[in-house]
Amino acid sequence: MNNHFKIKPFHQDYAELLQITDTHIFADEKETLDGVDTQSSLKEVLNLARNNDWPVDAVLVTGDLAHDPVTIVYERLLDILTDIDKPIFWLPGNHDDPKLMYQVLNKKNIHTAKSIEIGSWIVVMLDSFLANTHAGYLAQDELDFLDKILNENLDKHVLICLHHPPVEIGSVWMDSMRLNNPEDFFNVLDKYDHIKAVLWGHIHQEFFSERHGVTLMATPSTCVQFMPGAGQYTKDGRAAGYRHLRLNASGEINSVIRRLNEDGA
Ligand SMILES: [Fe+2]
Repeated sequence: MNNHFKIKPFHQDYAELLQITDTHIFADEKETLDGVDTQSSLKEVLNLARNNDWPVDAVLVTGDLAHDPVTIVYERLLDILTDIDKPIFWLPGNHDDPKLMYQVLNKKNIHTAKSIEIGSWIVVMLDSFLANTHAGYLAQDELDFLDKILNENLDKHVLICLHHPPVEIGSVWMDSMRLNNPEDFFNVLDKYDHIKAVLWGHIHQEFFSERHGVTLMATPSTCVQFMPGAGQYTKDGRAAGYRHLRLNASGEINSVIRRLNEDGA
């Protein structure tokens, strides 16, 4: 497995990324997630991105690619994602089977690299999967990897991606399944001052905050949305979407969320 991947951004002054997350693809194509056909919704979101923010330098997929973590689901995702003519990087979520993903989602433009060098930026893809729970955990080897990458790239700006929120988002049921060891994560981050943002999925809603000068962001799912602030599972009627990121050479990030029927799609 090649852990590092280098991309030369199309523009000299910035790199452009697409983040899609929580695609929740089912084994049975007729099944829906609370009434949403997740596969069709993913395809519509990708078309929206193609129509509004193309080209990008790379695509990030931040977990829960599968709802049912079986081979046929990852093969179907392989078909959809290889259709995108851009480098794609993924990390696993609580619904995924990381071992199976490494076997299937590891071809053509789809990479398993955990650090991506893109212009003056490093994007780090962390694995917070923890078996038999919807919560997450960063194992010591993952924390060591993060520390090593940060230390080796002091001259770069850094974007860190993972599936689980490292902070509470103010939604009780979601906060009970966030990252179990955020203090270990932030202990590593607090040693450095070149980290610009942390980006995740899992919560199926937009989130934006800041901690010690580091931007914290989460992104709507490509299928069902969860109601912000809800104490228990509550579907939010807002449309599926994605996040577009511009990573400027200056270290500044410009980011926008686009949703299906809210942008004239
Ligand atoms: Fe999740």
